[in-house]
Amino acid sequence: MVLIILILSMLTFPILSIDIHYPSRLLSYWTPANIVISPINQHIFMVDMSFNRILHLSPEAIYISTLNLPIEQSKLYSPLKLTIDLAGYLYVATGAYSSLAMIYKYRTTDHQLIKNISLSLYVPTALTISPINGDIYVATTDTKDTSIYVLNKNGEQINKFNASKFSPPLSQPTALTMDKTAERLYVADRNDTTTGRIFVINSQTGRQLQVYINSNIYRPTAVIVDVNLNVYVSDMATNCIIALTSNGTFIRTYTNSLYNPQGLTFASYTSLLLSDTLNNRLVLFDVVSAKVLQIYSSPDPVLIAPRFVALLNSGDIYVNSLTDDIGYNILKRLTITNSSANVTQIINPKHHFDFPVGLALDTKNQIYVTDSNIPYGYIHMFASNGTELDRIYTNNPPLKNPHGIATDLHGNLYVADSGNVRVIKLLINGTIIQNYQTTPPLQYVYDV
Ligand SMILES: *[C@@H]1O[C@H](CO)[C@@H](O)[C@H](O)[C@H]1NC(C)=O
Ligand SMILES: *[C@@H]1O[C@H](CO)[C@@H](O)[C@H](O)[C@H]1NC(C)=O
Ligand SMILES: *[C@@H]1O[C@H](CO)[C@@H](O)[C@H](O)[C@H]1NC(C)=O
Ligand SMILES: *[C@@H]1O[C@H](CO)[C@@H](O)[C@H](O)[C@H]1NC(C)=O
Ligand SMILES: *[C@@H]1O[C@H](CO)[C@@H](O)[C@H](O)[C@H]1NC(C)=O
Ligand SMILES: *[C@@H]1O[C@H](CO)[C@@H](O)[C@H](O)[C@H]1NC(C)=O
Ligand SMILES: *[C@@H]1O[C@H](CO)[C@@H](O)[C@H](O)[C@H]1NC(C)=O
Ligand SMILES: *[C@@H]1O[C@H](CO)[C@@H](O)[C@H](O)[C@H]1NC(C)=O
Repeated sequence: MVLIILILSMLTFPILSIDIHYPSRLLSYWTPANIVISPINQHIFMVDMSFNRILHLSPEAIYISTLNLPIEQSKLYSPLKLTIDLAGYLYVATGAYSSLAMIYKYRTTDHQLIKNISLSLYVPTALTISPINGDIYVATTDTKDTSIYVLNKNGEQINKFNASKFSPPLSQPTALTMDKTAERLYVADRNDTTTGRIFVINSQTGRQLQVYINSNIYRPTAVIVDVNLNVYVSDMATNCIIALTSNGTFIRTYTNSLYNPQGLTFASYTSLLLSDTLNNRLVLFDVVSAKVLQIYSSPDPVLIAPRFVALLNSGDIYVNSLTDDIGYNILKRLTITNSSANVTQIINPKHHFDFPVGLALDTKNQIYVTDSNIPYGYIHMFASNGTELDRIYTNNPPLKNPHGIATDLHGNLYVADSGNVRVIKLLINGTIIQNYQTTPPLQYVYDV
């Protein structure tokens, strides 16, 4: 299936107006959050919020690869937080819920994981590193512990600045950065009021030097500082970047219809690269004029997050992919030639679907779509023109969260009945003729 998606993406590429800033032929969708740029070669590393993974992009935002993190697929991890040191090593902090968090250190030239650092906190919310001695600063927020941990470069804890050290007390630290002398640590603090703020503290002692409060700072998501100690803050609630001088005087905001901006970094001395998260794009601003220099955008008019594909006898491809409002999936038919691909929406999902997942075609080009309607589920059966013919239910037990589906030459259906931890073979009238269960039981049956 992966191969089909790759081929599909390559085939569909020619219909887009070709723009060298189109980030990738392979990624049809990204939701950029935390972002850093390597000082060595200007490569971009960004967290893709929708899949909580790290994408490695060229300086022109062309997709290169996805980092392989040593995390367990079965666990839920906190949003990945990144920082990069002057030598170009990437640090990634995350924690599986209810387990202590980790920092993974990568060499970015070959993606080699070179160090694991165990933390004594659960949810890392921000990460930065001293440009002078490599000390690591990690922020955390939880009911019992909201603070900044300081580790030396070997990962040993050397200090901790707890919430009460700040005035007013730290509420939800969301971003950290340091000036180039590493004397000052900047802490963005979300407070869900117009008193969202940036603290400036002495990085050695934790003594508070300054606090910046501005009505545009509400839910700050990133903070960076330039050589003149001007501060730039992105805010996901007020949808702007706010620039302040070192004494907190407001300079300007940068806007351009931003929607939930999250990551912010310097791309050069004169430009700022922003993750305009819910617009699914990166925006490069000129620092001085606040003008947009470049937009790196990935929304693909054809396919958004394609999940399941099936091939029709004619060579047309059916794709189950997300609609723009994410609430529904949609079925599209792609008619492919060597130089173009036409896309037809064949089924309006809103009339039919609860939560369509799997997709299969039979030899007569009838379309089967599993619907993982919580708590049970069923299978839609459509004619090739998109008319719904029937819905298939099973009894004893009913389908529960069905995912992948396949057909054979005799018209039998095979369904990954994930909630019932089994794969079943059934007739289109819902009669189950085979029940595949294994010892030990399958963990999460996804596709078939
Ligand atoms: C880091 O941890 C992962 C998973 O626990 C392990 O596979 C890897 O070998 C470790 N790497 C280093 C450099 O310690
Ligand atoms: C915070 O740190 C101060 C000393 O710096 C200490 O007295 C206090 O108990 C700490 N509070 C918590 C909740 O750890
Ligand atoms: C926000 O800050 C104000 C003033 O310091 C404080 O009274 C309030 O409790 C804070 N709210 C949250 C959600 O932390
Ligand atoms: C703050 O800095 C700006 C420019 O750097 C300066 O014009 C202004 O007078 C300063 N304000 C205070 C209160 O120091
Ligand atoms: C499409 O490409 C294939 C392989 O390159 C070629 O054999 C075929 O003639 C092409 N078809 C058209 C309609 O251009
Ligand atoms: C795509 O649609 C256009 C306009 O409707 C049509 O001219 C073209 O032949 C179609 N291409 C394919 C491959 O179906
Ligand atoms: C779609 O196909 C079904 C079944 O083959 C047929 O009954 C129906 O008339 C067709 N609808 C349209 C609009 O072509
Ligand atoms: C389903 O179809 C099979 C084969 O056609 C038939 O034997 C069976 O009785 C049918 N079951 C129901 C519930 O209609």
